[in-house]
Amino acid sequence: MTRRFTILTLFPSIFDSFLECSLIGKAVAAGRIVVERTDIRNFASDPHRSVDDSPYGGGAGMVMKPEPVVEALRQAPDGLRVLITPQGERYTQETALELSRHETLVLACGRYEGFDERIRDFVDREVSLGDFVLHGGEVAAMAIVESIARLGKEVLGNPDSAIEESFSDGLLEYPQYTRPHTFEGRSVPEILLGGNHQAIRRWRRAQRLLRTSRRRPDLLGELTEEDRHLLQEALGQEEP
Ligand code: ADE
Repeated sequence: MTRRFTILTLFPSIFDSFLECSLIGKAVAAGRIVVERTDIRNFASDPHRSVDDSPYGGGAGMVMKPEPVVEALRQAPDGLRVLITPQGERYTQETALELSRHETLVLACGRYEGFDERIRDFVDREVSLGDFVLHGGEVAAMAIVESIARLGKEVLGNPDSAIEESFSDGLLEYPQYTRPHTFEGRSVPEILLGGNHQAIRRWRRAQRLLRTSRRRPDLLGELTEEDRHLLQEALGQEEP
């Protein structure tokens, strides 16, 4: 399948190097993913081509007008329509998986103080990148495109590596090392040098549990008997 994204934005050029570089760039060049950008301003109908206006009721900032955004949504290809806004549901790996089931996604990016409320009736879903405020949805759209594109075969040669990573199973990734063996007095854990694959697997699992319990206890669900054991053991071995 060819994965298709249509991004509705007031700043299409923000995406230029994102779509040219690295693995996304290769997937785009090979036509494995298609990312179309639509300038919302093209759908402004007044002589000034205005896309924003002051808020009814007063207040600071400007609001995105409904007509250009809704017209851009109407003319976008068929697919799931997603509004990118700090008021949306929190975007997670789970959301990426859900959205990835749709071959075509239309991502609408806001700017200014937000969208006219009536625009919400014309989308299927609203997502936020996190509990912070950006100037607009474009950076969030890049994160969404990349997280979805890399789930499939279109971008990553081996989809297993996406599956094994942090968040796919709710745990953070284990510590990774490469050469040199000793860097500024810090050595690679001995267990990784021994070639005992079962012991390495066990150690890595324990490290993931340990790291998650320390850094992101909110991600740690009900543990199996074996995981509980591993975590206890790892906690016992930790340096004070
Ligand atoms: N637009 C502005 N801030 C945002 C955020 N945190 N997530 C998604 N879209 C946004």
